[in-house]
Amino acid sequence: MVFPYRTAFRLALWSSVLLPLACAAPHARSQESLTVDLDPYPTKPRVTFRSDGTFKITVFSDLHYGENPWDAWGPEQDINSTELMKIVLGQEQPDYVILNGDLITGENTFRQNSTHLIDEIVAPLNAAGIPFSSTQGNHDNEPNITHLEEIKREQLVAPLSYTRTAPPGVGGEQGPGTYWVPVYEHVSDSTPILVLWFFDSRGGFSKGANSTAVPDWVDETVAGWIQSEAAAMDAAWGPANASRGALAFVHIPPHAIQALQPDLNSARDPGLNADLLGSGSTQATTDSANLGKDQPFWDALNEYVPNLHAVFSGHDHGNEWCVREPTKNVIFCFGKHSGYGGYSDSWWGHGVRNIVFSSPDPKGALQSWIRYENGTINANVTLDASYN
Ligand SMILES: *[C@@H]1O[C@H](CO)[C@@H](O)[C@H](O)[C@H]1NC(C)=O
Ligand SMILES: *[C@@H]1O[C@H](CO)[C@@H](O)[C@H](O)[C@H]1NC(C)=O
Ligand SMILES: *[C@@H]1O[C@H](CO)[C@@H](O)[C@H](O)[C@H]1NC(C)=O
Ligand SMILES: *[C@@H]1O[C@H](CO)[C@@H](O)[C@H](O)[C@H]1NC(C)=O
Ligand SMILES: *[C@@H]1O[C@H](CO)[C@@H](O)[C@H](O)[C@H]1NC(C)=O
Ligand SMILES: *[C@@H]1O[C@H](CO)[C@@H](O)[C@H](O)[C@H]1NC(C)=O
Ligand SMILES: *[C@@H]1O[C@H](CO)[C@@H](O)[C@H](O)[C@H]1NC(C)=O
Repeated sequence: MVFPYRTAFRLALWSSVLLPLACAAPHARSQESLTVDLDPYPTKPRVTFRSDGTFKITVFSDLHYGENPWDAWGPEQDINSTELMKIVLGQEQPDYVILNGDLITGENTFRQNSTHLIDEIVAPLNAAGIPFSSTQGNHDNEPNITHLEEIKREQLVAPLSYTRTAPPGVGGEQGPGTYWVPVYEHVSDSTPILVLWFFDSRGGFSKGANSTAVPDWVDETVAGWIQSEAAAMDAAWGPANASRGALAFVHIPPHAIQALQPDLNSARDPGLNADLLGSGSTQATTDSANLGKDQPFWDALNEYVPNLHAVFSGHDHGNEWCVREPTKNVIFCFGKHSGYGGYSDSWWGHGVRNIVFSSPDPKGALQSWIRYENGTINANVTLDASYN
């Protein structure tokens, strides 16, 4: 069941109805301006901790909207997924939401309206008035849809979307969705207490006719960007070590996670473990010639981002566990398959991962668990220095 790359065969079926891509150059700030003004969201409300010092994130992974619009079951799945989002948002009342990739099953979409699915996906977030941002997944890059098109649509239709694009030259082929979001303890603070980092792990297929496979790892150019962004933050806000924490989100798990699965311990690393990691399931494993191509990213993230509490991925729908990655001494966690679309097994269920800060302490513990649609809690873990 580890086949996120299904339906490549549909490539043979498409006609060549193509529209020119109308995309402006991604927004970028110069290094100079970064050092004096490091607020990428001057016109949006600041994302802040609650007045009681807590902060709650709810992560929806792999929503997979838009499957088989020509059959009854496809649209029915999306109705179910929207219902799940409404139930969870109403009950959990998160301070921030993350859509961690594969928002859309792009291979089933039509050129003329593929991004309209974004309107459906963000509707419950717009209605609830919750700030959020997204990563894009391998299924969000297909002949009739791209990461950039999804991001632009999200920015257009969701006033509280904090999703941005990387500067030109960063992210590689079809990988624009790399950025960070500052979170403040108090709305009037001059520096953030937490930085949420988002990375585009690409994959899927390139746009248009003659579509070819897109590399399925965070591009090497992102490593230098992490280093320079971290340096700009230090220059503007002071050294990170004492003053701010970080979380990272990337749709496809880093390659280093694959080797950890055989030694998982269900008491120590609880959560569904039903998806055997293999080809295509972690970054740079689809083609053996590319093994390890995500290492520059993984090295830079762990070297230049201090107080990295954990890294979160989706992509492998049958996995929910967390584990400590020993070479970097960093905690990794899967999210939870949220959408009714995408591959699944009847007993896996659908839900979200919640992440809760009990205080703004940049080195403090987090609590994190899987919450199913029916309210059942699974795999509740404390993520701190003593974890695992
Ligand atoms: C939608 O959800 C209902 C109730 O949970 C379920 O019985 C049905 O099979 C779902 N439909 C699809 C297409 O997944
Ligand atoms: C892309 O969209 C076109 C036109 O809307 C459609 O004919 C084609 O089948 C789609 N391609 C794929 C791969 O689904
Ligand atoms: C896009 O167009 C197709 C073909 O007309 C239709 O079946 C589908 O429901 C539309 N999708 C959206 C998201 O509007
Ligand atoms: C796609 O490939 C075919 C055959 O190689 C070629 O004739 C055609 O011009 C290509 N189309 C595009 C849009 O690149
Ligand atoms: C960061 O803080 C920890 C203690 O919390 C300390 O052990 C470590 O040396 C510091 N690192 C740097 C680079 O200052
Ligand atoms: C809720 O859903 C999960 C996943 O399908 C299932 O394992 C669990 O038994 C359900 N809980 C209840 C109380 O029905
Ligand atoms: C998770 O565990 C913590 C620590 O035991 C507890 O305080 C919290 O209530 C649990 N969360 C849920 C949703 O059960």
